[in-house]
Parts: sequence; structure tokens; C-alpha cells
Amino acid sequence: MNHIIDQDPKIFKLIEGEKKREQEVIRLIPSENYASKAVMEASGSVFTNKYSEGYPGKRYYEGQEFIDEVETTACQRACQLFHMDHANVQPYSGSPANQAAFLALLEPNDKILGLKLSEGGHLTHGYKLNFSAKFFNSESYTVDPKTHQIDYDKILDQALKFQPKLIIAGYTAYPRTIDFAKFREICDRVGAYLLADISHINALCISGDHPHPAPYADIITTTTHKALRGPRGGLILCKKEHASKVDKAIMPGLQGGPHNHITAAKAVAFKEALSGEFQTYAHQIYLNAQALAKALLGRGFNLVSGGTDTHLIIINAIASFKINGKDYAKALYRAGLETNYNTVPFDPNPPMNPSGVRIGTPAVTTLGMKESDMEFIAAKMLQVAQNINDEGVLNHIRQEVQEYMKQYDFSRFI
Ligand SMILES: Cc1ncc(COP(=O)(O)O)c(C=O)c1O
Repeated sequence: MNHIIDQDPKIFKLIEGEKKREQEVIRLIPSENYASKAVMEASGSVFTNKYSEGYPGKRYYEGQEFIDEVETTACQRACQLFHMDHANVQPYSGSPANQAAFLALLEPNDKILGLKLSEGGHLTHGYKLNFSAKFFNSESYTVDPKTHQIDYDKILDQALKFQPKLIIAGYTAYPRTIDFAKFREICDRVGAYLLADISHINALCISGDHPHPAPYADIITTTTHKALRGPRGGLILCKKEHASKVDKAIMPGLQGGPHNHITAAKAVAFKEALSGEFQTYAHQIYLNAQALAKALLGRGFNLVSGGTDTHLIIINAIASFKINGKDYAKALYRAGLETNYNTVPFDPNPPMNPSGVRIGTPAVTTLGMKESDMEFIAAKMLQVAQNINDEGVLNHIRQEVQEYMKQYDFSRFI
């Protein structure tokens, strides 16, 4: 940072502020993490200087002898990691990866079926204001109103009536196991493609703590950040038969030059994820989420679907404490616990002021937290709920959290 400090002190100061912040708060947003310094070094490397439209061996620019090998290595590692025939590492992020999957498999106005946004689906899974509903004919399935879990029989009935060409499985705010085999059966009944978006559960699929979609999905998309702990980016994996359509959908279909520095960082992250250490980390994410759910339930919290099978938990703050999700998330943050407010299934409140708060364990697990630390987090979360308007208590909890965070070694990330 010795150049930016002189050249752009304003931005330097902001980076330093963020560095400090990430060491002082307990980061519970399930899509966030701490990337390794090796990932950060690759993403800040000279590959940011290079244009490489096309694919290894087939570029429109000279000077590709190094990036071609980087991209080929990233693709090979991604295939090994996710057990798929073909990988495209060029998507700029998770949303463009989904756009490319649609572009590869569908024609404009084809029918798609995905989980409703307010019940845990992603914007790109057919939300009315998103490209996925503007350019495709989208219908949403819902979770069961009582269990808050996916009802596969209902999805089959809906699919038989709607006849989608693509069904999306994989979510943003759904805490339970996804049965990809059942989704495959439904797709086969109606002749639909299966898109598995494992952006949130990528690490758990790698460690075996969540069923892997590889045997069932036509295309798998994922972010390379979140639990996977790579740079911010996207990845598409597919069966051999879809490889050329997927590559054409990314370029020339959707994107220009790939972000080569991010491709290098993806390759580094995939190498990390192929290690035994990553397996241990990913399994611990799962154990920590189980422990956190148990600790919250024991303190009277109301959790969507009654708990979790994954890395994430959705607290119904209204049902727990008659506090709306936004007020609770803001009070938690004042007390040093970083979460995001979120809708709960069939939420009577609007998305900008919803009933729930979403939390997850990837970032705290990266730091080295274990099951016993989840007791501390749950206890502090309860104290915040009980003292939502008492700034003195919230301040005191913030100091306790800052003290607690001092036991972790951030030199590996920051
Ligand atoms: C399931 C799912 N798919 C796709 C995305 C989009 O990823 P990005 O924000 O990188 O575009 C997200 C992001 O939250 C997600 O949760």
C-alpha cells in the first residue's frame, strides 16, 4: 500500500478503514468471507493490464503466452473441484454466469421456473424486474407455507402445467438441503434443463456436507467468492454437450475481455479449495451453523424452517421478538455483529423493511471460530434483541465483541 498512500490518500484511508472494520466486527453475512493473501495478490497482479478476448489458443490479441496457461489451469482445477466436464472461468460474477447459462440453453421468451425472490430465490432466477423475467417467461415456485421447505410434489405439478424449458435449483436465502436428484426427475418429466446455482453452498458441495449437483445438472453456476473464498467472480460448469454453447454465450454473447487478474485469483482459490485444509474448513462451516442454530433456538429465537442444514440461518425477528428485521440488523451492527435484513417466507412486510435477518458461518469459520464461539454469538444476539433501544448496552456489547475479535490472527488475510 506504499504507492496508494501517496498517490490517493483519500482511497488509502478508506481501505485502511475497511481493514480495521473487518477485524473488529463479527461478520455473519453468509455471502461474505476473508479471501487469502495469495488470492488478493493474484487479483492485484499485472494480469489486470492484459486484454484476452476469446479463449486459450483462440484469442484476438497477441501476448497471451502467460494468461492462456493461467486460464487453462483455472479451468482444469474447476473441473476437478466440481466433477464436471467443462468449465468457463470468465463470468464477471454470479449474475452474469446465470445470464450466460440462460443464453446458452434458451431462446428469448422461453419458460423458466425458479424459487420466488421473497422466499430465498435470487434476482436472476426470474424476478420481475430482472433480465431473467424481462427476456424470459418466468414463473416462481414457493416453499411450503408450514414447513418453509421445498415441496417437490408441488413443483412437479406446477412444472407439468407450466412446461418450463429450464428449472433453477439453488438459492440465496434457503437454509435447507436441496434434493438435486428430485429436481432432475422433475426436469426429465417435463423435458426441462436443470440449472444448479450453488453460489451459496459451493463449499459444502465440495466437502460433501451438501449433496453435489454434478450427476444431475445440465449446467452448474456459482460465484467464486462467498464460502468458496476466491475473488469476486463467477464460474460456469457443464456437461460436454453444452460446452460450446456456454463458451459462445459468454463470448461473444455477453462479455468482452475476461478479467485476467481475477482469472488468476480464481485459479489460486481453486487450488486452495482442492486441499484437505479446505475440506476441514467447509465441514466446520456446517458444524458451526448447526451449533449457532441450536444456540439461538435454545434462547427462544424463531428460525425459518426451524433450523438449518447448510451454512445459513434466517431469523424471523418479528416472530422472535416483535422487532422488524431492519431494526434488528441495524442494532446488531451497532453492537458489532454484521448481518443483513431479509424477507421470511410469505413475509407480510416489504423487502426494504422485512421480518427477518440472515446470518451465516463462512467468514467466522475462516477466522477459526468453533462451536463454542457460536454460544458467544447467540448470547450477544439475544442481548441486542433485549436492549434494542439502549445505546449504552449496544456500545458495551460492541466493546466486548472488539475484545473477543483480538484473539484471531488476521495477518493471513489483511
Ligand atoms: C444463489 C445466487 N446466485 C447468484 C448470485 C449473484 O452473484 P453476484 O452478486 O456475484 O452477481 C447470488 C448472489 O448473492 C446468489 O446468492
